[in-house]
Amino acid sequence: MTTPTALIIAVDGPAASGKGTIARALARRFDLPHLDTGKLYRATGLAVRLAGLDPADAAAAAAAARQLDPALLDDPDLMSGENAQAASIVSAHPAVRAALLETQRAFAAQPGGAVLDGRDIGTVIAPHAPAKLFVTAAPEVRAGRRHAELSANGFAQDFASVLADILARDARDSGRADAPLRRADDAALLDTSDLAIDTAVQRAIRLVEAALLRDGQQ
Ligand code: DC
Repeated sequence: MTTPTALIIAVDGPAASGKGTIARALARRFDLPHLDTGKLYRATGLAVRLAGLDPADAAAAAAAARQLDPALLDDPDLMSGENAQAASIVSAHPAVRAALLETQRAFAAQPGGAVLDGRDIGTVIAPHAPAKLFVTAAPEVRAGRRHAELSANGFAQDFASVLADILARDARDSGRADAPLRRADDAALLDTSDLAIDTAVQRAIRLVEAALLRDGQQ
């Protein structure tokens, strides 16, 4: 008899694709702990900015990632547009990715399983995950969502600059040499462009159930 693999659900995709909302809903549905791995890169970017250093400085960013202050994960500036760009810049340094790798792998390796969302969960952090989703949406749709979210959180930014930021992040996150954003060969694609969030969540649950059935977990 083979032992089923742990219930690890990998959710990857570009900025504002809906992957965070979907990952949280999957964690509730399957009763699993959830890690938003983007927050680790955001906290690293924020630490560099608070120290008055340049996110493009690989040594400074790697040092920040190695001594990450957990309090930064709750900082109000973590989710700002400016900090998103800093996160994207620090995340391209291989030494930053190496410094954050173990935390993410350990989270994924919890005995009961876990849900992780990010850019490289299905390809690098948990390539053995039995269920993988790649969540995407058209850039204009993602910019509209991010614009609404930023406004609701008190970060004023016009739509055109939110769209430009999203396109810049897409290019940087997909174009970097180390662990670029890409769909794992065995990840199910979920395009949320025309879907209300509830529908997207229901589809994600069905895709995960189908993947687990194939894996012999249900
Ligand atoms: O998911 P997010 O928008 O909060 O992520 C912020 C940045 O962090 C993103 O532009 C790229 C980087 N990131 C990454 O490189 N790898 C991950 N697994 C998660 C995020």
